[in-house]
Amino acid sequence: MSEKKAYAPIAVKLEKDKRYGWCTCSHSSNQPFCDGSHKAHNATPSMGFAVEEEKTAFLCTCKQTKNPPYCDGSHKN
Ligand code: FES
Repeated sequence: MSEKKAYAPIAVKLEKDKRYGWCTCSHSSNQPFCDGSHKAHNATPSMGFAVEEEKTAFLCTCKQTKNPPYCDGSHKN
């Protein structure tokens, strides 16, 4: 019997104008951010982003979101 891995977004406090690298490949040990693991796995690189004001956001860990890096509820599908 196979079990589907449960994913949930991670709430992170984002700083104004700081550059972040959201992991797109799932290999990072520092979810939801990139730790460079995609290089060893020949996987997709991180997606850079920044925010215009400090805020707490729920970032996607399932990598199925249609609104990266933010969770859009796709992990429930
Ligand atoms: S964790 Fe919610 S859409 Fe990916």
